[in-house]
Amino acid sequence: MIAQTPSARRRQELGQVRTPQSIAKWMTSWACAGRPNRILEPCVGDGVFVESIAELAGGTFWRPGIESFDVDALQIAALSRAEFLRRDGISLNCRNEDFLTASMNDRYECIIANPPYVRHHAMQYSDEVWRRFDQQCGGRLSRMTNLYGLFMLRIWSLLAPRGRAALITPAEWLNADFGKQLKRYLLNENAIEAIVHFHPRSRVFSDALTTAVIILMRQGRAAGDPVQLTSLEDASELDVNTLKSGRLISRTALDPTLKWTNLFYGSTSGPDGSGRTLAAIADCRRGIATGANQFFTLRESERLKWGLPEQDMAVCITKAGQLTTDKLTAGVVREWIDQDERVFLFRPRELSDPVQRYLDHGHELGIDSRYLPSHRPVWYMPEERPPAPILISVFSRTDFRVVLNEARALNLTAYHGIYPRDNSAATVQLLFDYLRSFRGRMAISHQRRIYGGGLFKLEPRDVEAVEIPETLV
Ligand SMILES: C[S@@+](CC[C@H](N)C(=O)[O-])C[C@H]1O[C@@H](n2cnc3c(N)ncnc32)[C@H](O)[C@@H]1O
Repeated sequence: MIAQTPSARRRQELGQVRTPQSIAKWMTSWACAGRPNRILEPCVGDGVFVESIAELAGGTFWRPGIESFDVDALQIAALSRAEFLRRDGISLNCRNEDFLTASMNDRYECIIANPPYVRHHAMQYSDEVWRRFDQQCGGRLSRMTNLYGLFMLRIWSLLAPRGRAALITPAEWLNADFGKQLKRYLLNENAIEAIVHFHPRSRVFSDALTTAVIILMRQGRAAGDPVQLTSLEDASELDVNTLKSGRLISRTALDPTLKWTNLFYGSTSGPDGSGRTLAAIADCRRGIATGANQFFTLRESERLKWGLPEQDMAVCITKAGQLTTDKLTAGVVREWIDQDERVFLFRPRELSDPVQRYLDHGHELGIDSRYLPSHRPVWYMPEERPPAPILISVFSRTDFRVVLNEARALNLTAYHGIYPRDNSAATVQLLFDYLRSFRGRMAISHQRRIYGGGLFKLEPRDVEAVEIPETLV
């Protein structure tokens, strides 16, 4: 075991893990959307959220009053000297007290927090404190509940009517036994507006190995308001569209006794209870991003005009509307070529004179300095990708289009490619038939994300999370 320095041990005891600034900004902008007058930061640390609030207020007439807590006097002392407080004229009142036991009479329009992660055996709250939380929840709370769970409960109790709270916590409570009572209570209270789940692979907190979630809570939600569930690869994907791209689920469809992580990444029970997802038998990959489709994709007439050899071209689906059938055959490709559709991907195999002339043309157009081409080892070589046996559209307003790629065409980003690990014709056909069946379409629709204007989207990992019957495994 590696010995810890005193400061590292203290940080661990107090559950001190810093929120990355980009996440703090995103949470702050949601929680402060109504420009609240009174804000609470119950475990302020070095004040990353206070700084985000100050930034949001900078250059405006909005000057909220912020009340905060921390048990660590050193953090509070350091924060009181922070430059941004003076610069932006922010009024911050820090109390060096335990947030869970401090006496509080006020309610807040906005609460933002990264509550401390401290396990139950390291906490020393009296029975009376625990019983207060039992009373709030209307049932006995597990004594294994982590400190951040207790923070969630107190935070909810301090929200003013129509108030908003944005919290970042470990994802553990979604699946842990101690989380059941917490989830039940928050569902009963109709507290949860959205949960944003970061992929377990992503290291949101640079100094901790936990998977993170952001939970957004709002007072005054209507009874029928759904809960928004969004999964992100990592924090860099957080933006103004994050809450439009998730999946909406009715509050009554959420069972607090089940593991909620499965709501983001597949399910424990497949259509036949098999618990299998497509990831068990296939990979799904995005289509090829050229970075300049007008240059890298050509029509037959353009190919002939430039004298480009066929060997330097690959047949490729270049736009969503190109596919109108469920089977892409060589005959369909022939028709596209005859109709002079844009169906060739420029993928030079040899630097012949015509290829060189076409590359010079690209250079004149500045294609080589565009973002994607300039970041490739060779600017004019798009990603190497084998043709996918099955394709699935990325966007849809109804059912997603699933296509059997008999012609072995490549695909740009309007489609994702599904690559069964056993790519024998029989296996591919079975998977294709399932994905087009009623059950398969339902399973796909459970994974889709909702965009504005009734548009649905699938990411490759959503496709991999589609449930499949055991017969396919
Ligand atoms: C996870 S850190 C978050 C710090 C900062 N807000 C951020 O987001 O980067 C949690 C903070 O809570 C403080 N803390 C721990 N137990 C507390 C308690 N019972 N009441 C108030 N603050 C507490 C710790 O000292 C630490 O600064």
